[in-house]
Amino acid sequence: MIKLYLENIKDRLTKNDKEYIFLCNAKNIYDGKGYQFIFDDDMDKQLAVFRRDGNLYCLSNICPHRHQDKIYDGIIQDLKVSCPEHGWTYELETGKNINHLQGLRSLKKYEIIEKEGKIYIEFPEFEIPKWRENL
Ligand code: FES
Repeated sequence: MIKLYLENIKDRLTKNDKEYIFLCNAKNIYDGKGYQFIFDDDMDKQLAVFRRDGNLYCLSNICPHRHQDKIYDGIIQDLKVSCPEHGWTYELETGKNINHLQGLRSLKKYEIIEKEGKIYIEFPEFEIPKWRENL
């Protein structure tokens, strides 16, 4: 698990009018493995990052089935990741739920780029559960 604080991330860049923030050094993300990032000490602000066949993917780390933060630990096969809890399966490239018999909800996908040995993601807008609005 890697913890980050959005307001402390000063390394940023703009590409196609979109703001990207530094996530980590590229050499720390190995192929075929998932990584969990938590922002602002908020369990609802989590991302899962994967490298597969050299390509990077970034999805919400929170499975919409039972709100478990386990996508990073999912089983990767072809270009899909299956949640280790109950097996809901998503496309790495889009976050799309590939089996609607499991349910209709997908994972939010985030743009991720590698530049000069560093990995950046689009400034993340997290999906905060509605029930938190009344807290
Ligand atoms: S929590 Fe992910 S499949 Fe159930």
